[in-house]
Amino acid sequence: MTRETWATRLGFILAAVGSAVGLGNVWRFPWMTAQNGGSAFLLIYLAIVILVGVPGLLGEFVIGRRAKRNPVGALRDLSGSRGWALVGALGVATATVLLSFYSVVGGWILRYFLESLYGFVGTAPYAGEPGAHFSAISFGPEAVAFHLVFLGLTAAIVVSGVRRGIELGTKLMMPAIVVLLAGLAVWAGTQDGALAGYEFFLSFDASTVRANWLDLLAPAAGQALFTLSLGAGTMLVYASYLGEDQSLPADATTIAVLNTAVGVLAGLVVFPLLFSLGVEPGSGGPGALFVGLAGAFATLPAGALIGTLFFGVVLLAALSSAISILEIPVAFLVDEFALSRRTAVGAVSGVIALGGVANALQSSLFGFIAGQVVDTLLTLGLLLFLLFVGWQLGPVAVEEFRKGAGATTARLATTWRYFVGTVIPVFLAFTLLTGLGLDGMIGRWAVVAVAVAVTVVAAAVFNRSRTAA
Ligand code: PHE
Repeated sequence: MTRETWATRLGFILAAVGSAVGLGNVWRFPWMTAQNGGSAFLLIYLAIVILVGVPGLLGEFVIGRRAKRNPVGALRDLSGSRGWALVGALGVATATVLLSFYSVVGGWILRYFLESLYGFVGTAPYAGEPGAHFSAISFGPEAVAFHLVFLGLTAAIVVSGVRRGIELGTKLMMPAIVVLLAGLAVWAGTQDGALAGYEFFLSFDASTVRANWLDLLAPAAGQALFTLSLGAGTMLVYASYLGEDQSLPADATTIAVLNTAVGVLAGLVVFPLLFSLGVEPGSGGPGALFVGLAGAFATLPAGALIGTLFFGVVLLAALSSAISILEIPVAFLVDEFALSRRTAVGAVSGVIALGGVANALQSSLFGFIAGQVVDTLLTLGLLLFLLFVGWQLGPVAVEEFRKGAGATTARLATTWRYFVGTVIPVFLAFTLLTGLGLDGMIGRWAVVAVAVAVTVVAAAVFNRSRTAA
């Protein structure tokens, strides 16, 4: 059977933007920004998107388009080594863990969407006690049920294939998301007190950046990878369905810009609303979106309508990301074991359904995975993918980067190769180790030294194994 490809270049871009735009933009981004002091965090996060995110996207694209395979097959085929296949397998495992918590949050969104749609918003249990309502529904049997429905919707799209499922689905969802969010942002701006929200989100205080930037690196990097869907192999798999006639650097830039624009737009909805209602954005933690906004909608005249639109947008964004996560293990089973798409989707969804049940019943497990495990795995995954690109692929990566990108890219491509092989791995190793708390034990500069040492050794080893091959 021939492997499917995207019908159009726009289809690929929209699918990739659909993957990027998700709970990371609307749920995690405002919450992390609030927890880390607002605009100082935003600035560092933007810098990381440009300096690490775009080159990282290109790294996954180059591997995927070159190999036309899932992460395991791609790294194995391009290197001829089983060791590298394990790095691909790490991506497949990360995706499975990731979706098992993502789908639980997707279930919450689905529930709030339906509750708004049916007009429960202005009534008990929302009115007065949105926090109690969220606590009552977020973990337990009902959370399990909504998680399973959300996962079922995701599987239904993925089972229809690359063109008729993912491409068509995201082509319909993305414009709806942007239009609705823009409308909501305008509306949110008309609320009393919106200005305080803008100020918190956008005003920029150089002294807090100078004082805190080192502490903000790890959380900002984690958020940048999460929101750009980097480190698990989503972008690798999506690029594996590409034809040759694309400019990867142009696509990566477009995707990062659109994703950031939607993230900022979501902030322009969420922050003015929270401030206009006097909800402290940092206080709610992961539940802030649900508690703060559902509470807000309950008190507004047109609350049910606004709530339906808002949670509808978030639901679409979550779905278009969830399908991209599910596609990683599905592509693995289809490519490597020649399973039909239907069987592969069934098998993978079964495993993720069980993982999600555990997360939906155990808030401590959920918190651990959402807060720690996912960031660590994505950072480690991207670090290894980029070492592979820089040192194992080397000149092959440069050649693939330039294919379809025009004659002027020679300099850019070689610069990119060294950047993804040296500076970015050191940076990722640093954030990985500080994220794990190593800096508290041995000090920051020692962590930097370890990160440099790891990268240099890896570069030397992989560079040699390529020359030998
Ligand atoms: N980017 C997605 C979001 O922001 C999450 C995601 C992470 C998707 C990793 C795929 C891979 O919601």
